[in-house]
Amino acid sequence: MPKEIFNSKYQFLPRSDLLSFEEIIRLARLFAAQGVRKLRLTGGEPLLRKNLDVLVTELAKIEGIDDIALTTNASILTLPRAQQLRDAGLDRITVSLDAINEQRFRQMNDMDVSVEKVLQGIDNAERAGFDNIKINMVVQKGVNEEEVVPMAQYFKGSKQTLRFIEFMDVGSTNGWNLEQVVSGQAIVEKISEHFELESLEPNYRGEVAKRWRYVDGGGEFGLITSVTEAFCGDCSRVRLSAKGSVYTCLFASRGTDLRHLLRGGATDEVVNEVITDLWRARSDRYSEIRGSGESVLEEHVLEKVEMSYIGG
Ligand SMILES: C[S@@+](CC[C@H](N)C(=O)[O-])C[C@H]1O[C@@H](n2cnc3c(N)ncnc32)[C@H](O)[C@@H]1O
Repeated sequence: MPKEIFNSKYQFLPRSDLLSFEEIIRLARLFAAQGVRKLRLTGGEPLLRKNLDVLVTELAKIEGIDDIALTTNASILTLPRAQQLRDAGLDRITVSLDAINEQRFRQMNDMDVSVEKVLQGIDNAERAGFDNIKINMVVQKGVNEEEVVPMAQYFKGSKQTLRFIEFMDVGSTNGWNLEQVVSGQAIVEKISEHFELESLEPNYRGEVAKRWRYVDGGGEFGLITSVTEAFCGDCSRVRLSAKGSVYTCLFASRGTDLRHLLRGGATDEVVNEVITDLWRARSDRYSEIRGSGESVLEEHVLEKVEMSYIGG
C-alpha cells in the first residue's frame, strides 16, 4: 500500500461498510457447506482487526473447515495475541518478510518497522505453539533481489520454511512491469551458487509452492512462480473482500457483491445459489493468458483489484 496513495487523504471505507464477524461467519459456513475446507485470513493487515480471535473461534466451529491460516506482516504479533489466536483454533501462520537487511527492509516497508520486530513476531508465534511457520518473500529486481541468498542463509536449517514469490502485477498501484520480476529459476540459480539443491515432489495436488531442499539436510524452501509458470488450472481459491465481494481470481477487476444479499435479508438458499452459479461460471485464467502472450481484457489492464484489498 504505497504511502503516496494510501495516506491520510485516502478515503478508507467506513466501518459500516465492512462485513461484521456475524456476516463473515455466515458466509464461511455457506462456503464450507459447498466444499471449502481451508480458510485464510489475510488483508490488508488482518491483525489490525480487533478481537480477531473471536472470529477465529467461530470459524473453527464450522463443520467441514479443517484448516485456518493467517498471513501477516507480524509487526504487531505479540505473544499474548499469538496465544489468543492459537487458543481460538488458528492452525497456521505465514509471515511476510522481504529482506533480512535492516536498511533494505525499512526502505521497503516504509513504516519504520525493523527486521527485529518481525523476527520477534515469528518467535512469539512459535512460543504460542505454531510450528512450520512459512515466510513469504516477494522478490523484485532492483529492490531486494540481493536479499535472496541472505534470506536463504538466514532461514536454512531453521524451523520456518521460506518461500520466494515472483513479483506479480496485482492491482494498479504497485507500478509493476515484467522487467521487475525475478524468475523462480533465477532464484534457484542464485541459491545453488552457495548450496547444493534438489527439487522435491509436491505435498499435494494444487500446492502452489514448488519445493526445493538443501542436500546437506538444511531443510527446504519454496518457490511461487505465478508469473513465469502460471497455475490457474489448479487454482481452487475464492476470495472474500472485507466488504463482502467475492473474487474468483487474484487478478479480477470486478467481484460479486454478497453483502447486499446478506443485508437485504436473503435466505441461505438464495446466497448459496449465487455462490454456486458464480463458481460454475468461472473462467478466469489471467496469469496463463498474460504468460501466453494473448492479449488480456482491457478491464484487467485498467482496473485490477488491489492486493491489499483481496489479500494475496
Ligand atoms: C497482500 S499481503 C496481506 C497480508 C499481510 N498484510 C502481509 O503483509 O502478509 C499477502 C501476501 O501477498 C504478498 N504480495 C504482496 N504484493 C505482492 C505482489 N505484487 N506479488 C506477489 N506477492 C505479493 C505479500 O508479500 C504477502 O505475503
